[in-house]
Amino acid sequence: MNILGISAFYHDSAAALFQDGRLVAAAQEERFTRKKHDSGFPAQAIAACLKQGGIGVDGLDYVGFYDKPLLKFERILIQYLATFPRSYRSFMKAVPLWLLEKLWVPNIIRRELGRDVPVLFAEHHQSHAASAFLVSPYPEAAILTVDGVGEWATASFGVGRGGKVQIFHEIRFPHSLGLLYSAFTSYLGFKVNSAEYKVMGLAPYGEPRYYDRVRRLIDIREDGSFRMDMRYFAYHYGLTMTNGAFHRLFGGPPRDPEGPLTQREKDIAMSVQKVTEEIVLKMAACLHRQTGMKNLCMAGGVALNCVANGRLLREGPFEDLFIQPAAGDAGGAVGVAALIHSQILGGARQYVMKDAYLGPSYSTEEIRAYLVSNAIPYRELTIAEMLSETARLIAEQNVVGWFQGRMEFGPRALGGRSILADARNPANKEVVNLKIKFRESFRPFAPTVLEEKVSDWFELDRPSPYMLLVAQVRPDRRSIPSVTHVDGSARIQTVSREQHPLYHALIEEFDRQTGCPVIINTSFNVRGEPIVCTPHDAYLCFMRTNMDVLVLDRFLLVKEGQPPLREERDWREQFELD
Ligand SMILES: [Fe+2]
Repeated sequence: MNILGISAFYHDSAAALFQDGRLVAAAQEERFTRKKHDSGFPAQAIAACLKQGGIGVDGLDYVGFYDKPLLKFERILIQYLATFPRSYRSFMKAVPLWLLEKLWVPNIIRRELGRDVPVLFAEHHQSHAASAFLVSPYPEAAILTVDGVGEWATASFGVGRGGKVQIFHEIRFPHSLGLLYSAFTSYLGFKVNSAEYKVMGLAPYGEPRYYDRVRRLIDIREDGSFRMDMRYFAYHYGLTMTNGAFHRLFGGPPRDPEGPLTQREKDIAMSVQKVTEEIVLKMAACLHRQTGMKNLCMAGGVALNCVANGRLLREGPFEDLFIQPAAGDAGGAVGVAALIHSQILGGARQYVMKDAYLGPSYSTEEIRAYLVSNAIPYRELTIAEMLSETARLIAEQNVVGWFQGRMEFGPRALGGRSILADARNPANKEVVNLKIKFRESFRPFAPTVLEEKVSDWFELDRPSPYMLLVAQVRPDRRSIPSVTHVDGSARIQTVSREQHPLYHALIEEFDRQTGCPVIINTSFNVRGEPIVCTPHDAYLCFMRTNMDVLVLDRFLLVKEGQPPLREERDWREQFELD
């Protein structure tokens, strides 16, 4: 039984393939088209999943789509009518798109696949809920999904048992924690649906001086539900997130995207982050009371807020937490396919997600052929040599591009397509930010730590394989400044031997050489670029930046000695800054 899940036409299009109940492949379209958050039909991601599954389009039994376009269109029409004539401009922009494309999803899928295959739909939050629970290790769990908006729901409360997901309560548009956070993202001059994590990264530099004002926008109730004061927002009728009343409340117009970041922006970021954490904690407490479950599964864009997740884990009430690595809309592709397998067809749950390495990989032979045919100078090493040499180069303060095995699914690089550097060197934060990623220097890096040593270095007693938990660096371990945030916290990734043997072995070797089982892991891309997918993407990124070394499989490339890259136009024009 082959089931393909698709999410598309909003942001982060993706595909996922279940074969006999097991997730064998999942990938985001942006990695192939090299267009960040690509929302088009995920033709290349589908092709990669089918290739991984060893089947063609003919082999597909069902295709699932991650939301219900008709319901969504209904919501959009009602919202335009309710706010007419303020909604006129937005209406004129959106409706033709819907009439020409989005309403015809089954036809588009059949046309693109070239086959009349059964297409099933799930509601957006059901897909989110399933994407977490049905691949989690728990036989039963409470489920919380929180995002911007799906059809009508912006958050849902549910419970999963066996192969079934049941949602029993929803919060509905326009009241939306995701959109509240996005409104501040845009107000602070960052890109909506893309750079929300920058607000989270900025928050620890600020004080919650605007807390009371943020609270004026939103009425939080004890049961975890909330209502927003829509007089301050424009997203329900216009082309912007916030309006004049919002700007007056916060003392000025939105920040210019490339303008300076002052203490005021930092304080606002801290204030909205605090309120967000408060709401997530309240929702979780309420869900715990209602379900009596021990474990919680989370999905939706807000579940990527790893500071809130860290607090949820520390302050309870749930004993454990599972967050799917592609918690945003890309993960909906996994959710709808899992729903078809378990809930619709009644198949047994037999897959537990243990890692996020679900994308394409390239064999040693393929990579050698690529290097040879492009006359790229390299050294071929044994695996043992590659590991010890790479660890030594990192310890000698080189910045290393690391490309090993299958590409990650979800927004984080987790050691399949990563840029690595020495976390002990305080200068590396600036070096990697400015010279390699070409991005704002306030952004902290995340560490990868050997899973077995996480508690020795961080105040965390369990694995965090998807970099979705923030915890404090232990006070006696402040020797890793480039991954320690100003508030002493870190956004942790743990890696085990089972998850990624080579990445684990590299950090083990680094630990052996230096006594430190922690390294900087940042995604293999430049600002505005999707994470690299192919060896060629990796080579281009290596050559365009000040990265010192590139390790592709067992091939080691050093920057000196590479022929200059000849490009017809400046690559900076290719990627829109995020
Ligand atoms: Fe969503």
